[in-house]
Amino acid sequence: MCGIVGYIGKKEAYPILMGGLSRLEYRGYDSAGVSLCDDKGIRTYKRQGKVADLALFTTGKDVSGAVGIGHTRWATHGEPSDRNSHPHVSQDGSVAIVHNGIIENYRQLRAELERNGYRFGSDTDTESVAHLIEHIGKKTGVTFPEAVRLALREVVGAYAIAAISTNDPDIVVVARKGSPLVVGIGDGEFFIASDATAVAEYTRKVVYLDEGEMAVLKRGEDLLVSAIDGREERNPVITEIEAELESIGKEGFEHFMEKEIFEQPKTILDSMRGRLDPETGEVRLGGLRDHIDRLAEADRIIFVACGTSFYAAILGEYLIERYAGIPVEVEYASEFRYRHPLIRKHDFVFAVSQSGETADTLAAIRLAKESGATVLGICNVVGSSIARETVAGIYTHAGPEIGVASTKAFTAQVTVLSLITLALAKRRKTLSDTELIRLAKELLAIPEKVKTALAKREECKEIAKEIAKSGDAFYLGRGVCYPVALEGALKLKEITYIHAEGYPAGEMKHGPIALIEDGTPVIAVAPESETHDKIVGSIQEMKARRANVTAVVTEGDTATAALADRSISIPVADEFVVALLAVIPLQLIAYHTAVTLGRDVDRPRNLAKSVTVE
Ligand code: M6R
Repeated sequence: MCGIVGYIGKKEAYPILMGGLSRLEYRGYDSAGVSLCDDKGIRTYKRQGKVADLALFTTGKDVSGAVGIGHTRWATHGEPSDRNSHPHVSQDGSVAIVHNGIIENYRQLRAELERNGYRFGSDTDTESVAHLIEHIGKKTGVTFPEAVRLALREVVGAYAIAAISTNDPDIVVVARKGSPLVVGIGDGEFFIASDATAVAEYTRKVVYLDEGEMAVLKRGEDLLVSAIDGREERNPVITEIEAELESIGKEGFEHFMEKEIFEQPKTILDSMRGRLDPETGEVRLGGLRDHIDRLAEADRIIFVACGTSFYAAILGEYLIERYAGIPVEVEYASEFRYRHPLIRKHDFVFAVSQSGETADTLAAIRLAKESGATVLGICNVVGSSIARETVAGIYTHAGPEIGVASTKAFTAQVTVLSLITLALAKRRKTLSDTELIRLAKELLAIPEKVKTALAKREECKEIAKEIAKSGDAFYLGRGVCYPVALEGALKLKEITYIHAEGYPAGEMKHGPIALIEDGTPVIAVAPESETHDKIVGSIQEMKARRANVTAVVTEGDTATAALADRSISIPVADEFVVALLAVIPLQLIAYHTAVTLGRDVDRPRNLAKSVTVE
């Protein structure tokens, strides 16, 4: 994870770096730092804590300079502390670097550098690269960019880096392998960031560095890129970005997560916009145009994903198998790559990822590609690494998601997976036209129904007050509500730090029911569905053990509501789409529990938005 920024031009770098770091804080917030460079040398300021703590620390200090780099950290090597914060500066102070990724051979590099007299001031993997650049520069006499190139050839691992040097104070050198890096092109100036939202305020023209590429940024000159392993320079492809800056603000909400929960009527609609014809049930997925017919003939589809995206993928499995009749497997990306999976040439592997930068998911699709499978993507972030490394795919169009706890990205992914299901069912004729049109209409009705579900906020707040008093909670569901239960439990865990388990309700009796005692909170996701009677049975089993049961029920289902201690209703909807409604109260309950407990909702402890490390 971690976010890196940089600037070179005629303006003061410091406010640009700090603005960029604030936008990238979702990537990590264990510490923040900046280095500024001019003919007086390199000045570095870094602090454990958030970007706001760094701003306080730099008050009254010399932050002048039109060249600089900055970093916001999610700790991997070395605890969060001032000394482990980036930028890291080489022994003689001539080189400063910021890094996102993991240097796998840092122990060997460090041992070798220590033998050469270098003293380390941190526990990080990154510091070795700063010393290595200085060391190679001194030993070989090459220019600063060449020293960076030679140093990176010795580095094993993943990185996006930006480096500056007193030996050449008018350039910034950037490189990437395995972690994202974007260069924004301004008027005689360059902006560097881990993602395009951090440069969108200044320019819409960006260059996404490709794997294994580096660039030397010089004010007033054109951007040229070259392979780290080569030297030949080329003009890069310039992309126009569309990010709307307005959508990156909180718009009057207290937290990004709250704003993103309430955006869902719009974002679900955006995910379907122009893609679904209610009159014919016809689905148009431009991104899959060249693959959808072959996909409909697939023997097997494999989804690889992590976290919330993994739960959305389970929903995809349930929908595609039931309605389109294609076998689907869902794999944790982090397991997939190491469990020696059997991937066949005619398999279709879908990466599901909000950020499109998750290292485990990226590694999984690279493995699938090597095995000859067709690799497709469902991503939210346009131009992200996964979007660029898949042969085709579908964007979810949910807009920037800043809250670390994913909400609108989940419902957008489920919407897109529902569209894929309809598209496949149409081609495979597993649903009649009448059924297709009926399900298409159910999907199109969801945004309005989500508004109704969101209007239950006050009831969710009351439930949250109860849950906030507990040390743990169980979320139960069956069928399409099982992944919803998993997602509800994950939301509660990550932002409230209350232990929560999501379970298929039928599994409780095989062990976990032993944990149920007087007052244990149980949230039963029990809207009308094929398995409704089964979950009603589970509610009764929980009540018999005196659990404190909250039931999510379909409007008008007073019988199920009466069995529980309290209930919250969602609008009537077909099972095909009900997950999109049932998840809403669970998001609201988690959010309000976190607020009740005074948690840092958008920046929960130990987490970061994009997990770009293994
Ligand atoms: O960007 P991705 O969808 O690939 O991220 C996957 C997970 O890291 C992510 O969903 C994570 O679990 C969220 N914090 C959940 O709220």
